[in-house]
Amino acid sequence: MDIKIFKTAEEASKAAAEIFKDTLKTGQEVFGLATGSTPEKTYEILVESDLDFSNAIAINLDEYYGIASTHDQSYAYFMNQHLFQHKPFKETHIPNGENTDAEDEVTRYDAILEKYPRDLQILGIGSNGHIAFNEPGSSFDATTTKVKLTDSTIQDNSRFFDNKDEVPQEAYSMGIKSIMDAKHIILMAFGESKADAIKKIIEGPVTEDVPASVLQKHPNVTLLLDEAVASKLSSN
Ligand code: GLP
Repeated sequence: MDIKIFKTAEEASKAAAEIFKDTLKTGQEVFGLATGSTPEKTYEILVESDLDFSNAIAINLDEYYGIASTHDQSYAYFMNQHLFQHKPFKETHIPNGENTDAEDEVTRYDAILEKYPRDLQILGIGSNGHIAFNEPGSSFDATTTKVKLTDSTIQDNSRFFDNKDEVPQEAYSMGIKSIMDAKHIILMAFGESKADAIKKIIEGPVTEDVPASVLQKHPNVTLLLDEAVASKLSSN
């Protein structure tokens, strides 16, 4: 793991945007994208840049189940607001939270993942170590799945909803195997509330109990951290 620690989240976000730029420069154009507050600044920098994504393919990690794409907390809505409506991509893909036929949706999304191997995959991390919506205990061999969110994730994400009861309890998520298929993975994490998770994924064992620990096994992972999230690392 290539671990880079920056004074601020903003500096780390600039570094992430630079990696997008370098990836595009080499003609690699399939981007696995994430939602959440963590990548917001990076998307803002991309929007303000002169980078051209009109030949690029975007494939998102996950979507809440049972939510319309027009809902302001759907990940489809988030991506449009923060990136796609400002920076057109050739194609954008995101699981369809309105498809109640899980088997059909999983098959559909897995076919997209098969067709477009990711050149660069962006990840955030949940305070319990989840990536996308792969909660603790998720199989490292999984491709797309319909998952049940843990109470801690529902609690963490309730800050975006009027109250906790409105947070969807299920989601469609790219599986860990598919995430690991990307050529280059960037995980960004900021703030003290995720310091324990970051320590575990870097210094702890590789275990399905801490989903992001699997990244130790990937040959090309860059961790972009701010000082607060890196504060519990032994080497610090
Ligand atoms: C959600 C998403 C994850 C994201 C996590 C952290 O659960 N499914 O992809 O990494 O939230 O979000 P935030 O960046 O807002 O802390």
